[in-house]
Amino acid sequence: MSGWRVRQLAPTPGQVDPYEAYAYPDRGVRPVGRPWVRANMISTVDGAITGTDGRSGGIGTAADRRMFGVLRDLADVVLVGAGTARTEGYRPSRLPIALVTARLDLDLASPLLAAAEHRTLVITAADADPDRLAATNAVADVVACGRGAVDLAGALAALADRGFHDVLCEGGPALLASLLAAGLVDELCVSTAPVLAGSGAGPARILTGPPLPAAVPLTLGHLLDDEGTLFARWLVGPTAPAG
Ligand SMILES: NC(=O)c1ccc[n+]([C@@H]2O[C@H](COP(=O)([O-])OP(=O)(O)OC[C@H]3O[C@@H](n4cnc5c(N)ncnc54)[C@H](OP(=O)(O)O)[C@@H]3O)[C@@H](O)[C@H]2O)c1
Repeated sequence: MSGWRVRQLAPTPGQVDPYEAYAYPDRGVRPVGRPWVRANMISTVDGAITGTDGRSGGIGTAADRRMFGVLRDLADVVLVGAGTARTEGYRPSRLPIALVTARLDLDLASPLLAAAEHRTLVITAADADPDRLAATNAVADVVACGRGAVDLAGALAALADRGFHDVLCEGGPALLASLLAAGLVDELCVSTAPVLAGSGAGPARILTGPPLPAAVPLTLGHLLDDEGTLFARWLVGPTAPAG
């Protein structure tokens, strides 16, 4: 609770408390054996996910920064791809951060690894470079899942084993596409910033990498508006889970 009220446009018009609107669902509607996975991304009206500086902050609004904080407050772990952590300069947070990387090309002296309040989790494949594995193990909680590629389902099960049941995936587009392709995303929160970025912002959209095996149907959970920034909560699937 923060006292912040946001205008809800759908399903029913009115004012809502974002903490209530984004409460994680009850146990009864959750997938078995893995956490609930919420992904959160921002794009401009023309679909850009960064400003010309290659970072998402360049398109962010005050309302989005506030909502970003609400979503972190509600989650118990942040899941992020190494590309985003590198580009956005991820720093330690109140929440544990789980970083997905195949190459283990990490700056082990960075605050995210060397100075995190909660030891950062590094999710990689069991047959990753052994020297890098050993070095990473010294500063992080390494979760080795799969061989040849990171087994994301195994990684999520490992997060559940550690007591993390409310995951917030902050991207980026490669990790989000892999999770969606594997059927491991339960909801997608997309903020639309009221701006056009134009072609200077680069071609990336909220999903990159290999195509999805099939179109993924979504069901609108809610649509909120705060000073022109739209917050859509999409539930993955043709109908919302009951309850
Ligand atoms: N607008 C937004 O909301 C938003 C959100 C997040 C990011 N972004 C932007 O997106 C850009 C970064 O894009 P990105 O595609 O590099 O982001 P990403 O998905 O965070 O990172 C890609 C990297 O993460 C690791 N990774 C991702 N999926 C993996 C998988 N299935 N298995 C193993 N490793 C995996 C790999 O790291 P290794 O190379 O270490 O193996 C891969 O190179 C930046 O410009 C950032 O600002 C925008």
